[in-house]
Amino acid sequence: MRKGIILAGGSGKRLNPLTECISKQLLPVYNKPLIYYPLTTLMLIGIKNILIIINPGEEKLFKKLLGDGNKFGIKISYETQKAPEGIAQAFLIAEKFLNGDDSVLVLGDNIFYGDNLIKTLKKACYSNNSATIFGYKVKDPQRYGVIEFDKQNIVKSIVEKPSNPKSRYAVTGIYFYDHKVVDYAKKISKSERGELEITDLNNIYIKKGNLKSEIFGRGSAWFDTGTHDSLLEASNFIYTLEKRQSLKIGCPEEVAWRNKWIDNNKLESLSLLSKKNEYGKYLKDLISLENN
Ligand code: DAU
Repeated sequence: MRKGIILAGGSGKRLNPLTECISKQLLPVYNKPLIYYPLTTLMLIGIKNILIIINPGEEKLFKKLLGDGNKFGIKISYETQKAPEGIAQAFLIAEKFLNGDDSVLVLGDNIFYGDNLIKTLKKACYSNNSATIFGYKVKDPQRYGVIEFDKQNIVKSIVEKPSNPKSRYAVTGIYFYDHKVVDYAKKISKSERGELEITDLNNIYIKKGNLKSEIFGRGSAWFDTGTHDSLLEASNFIYTLEKRQSLKIGCPEEVAWRNKWIDNNKLESLSLLSKKNEYGKYLKDLISLENN
């Protein structure tokens, strides 16, 4: 069974002073900590065994929030990354956890939303592709890994933060790989900015003709919440959707319950943790509304 990795370290410098004393992935996006969103994405795909990679010294905070995952009916373990030496380093850190299994890596500051999005991700999750990445059309591709397509619309290469992007398709922060990813991660060396680049890893799969790319269409939303503006935009987006639909986005308690990973009693006890607010009421009402 494919295992999940959430990369939740990094310096968060672009968000200072917000991140001076708290991890970026614990900052609020409207009414939930940022990490709830990528965590819920993995849970919606059906991933139950998840490694969260964090900065040294932050384990206590993450454990207070998420524990060992039991409250969501999943298994969460933790590893630390000594210094932010690149996204691809996640696979060196996760080698023991993966133990030869396939994986899906999601960046702890990425938020995904859309009707067909989970279906698309599930397809990649349960396919036999060696590697699958997802592109999203953006107006500022210079900020991301950018996909270059050939005439047949097949990925020719990916360039990290190019000054002259060859397309407007950014590589989003969710990546599916086979068991070979750990060996490939061992082969790459640090870039000029001193990081093991996820783009270099993807380019290895491209050279071997083994990377599949999918595009998230216009019905989906993707946020990389790495800046003050994008963090606020994501909050506003979630706020608007939740108010209009009376449904929550990125709610791991609900997903665990809908997946039947926790029962009514457990959901009710989780609702009590937030009983004084609308979050707790929402969880409590799920049970009664479902029965009506
Ligand atoms: O969001 C998608 C983009 O993410 C991709 O298009 C790029 O190809 C990819 O390199 C990455 O670019 P960013 O500039 O957004 O990466 P950033 O350094 O912000 O790191 C993304 C997340 O991963 C962030 O939450 C911090 C965490 N991280 C990052 C590094 C480099 C770590 O936990 N450890 C690290 O060493």
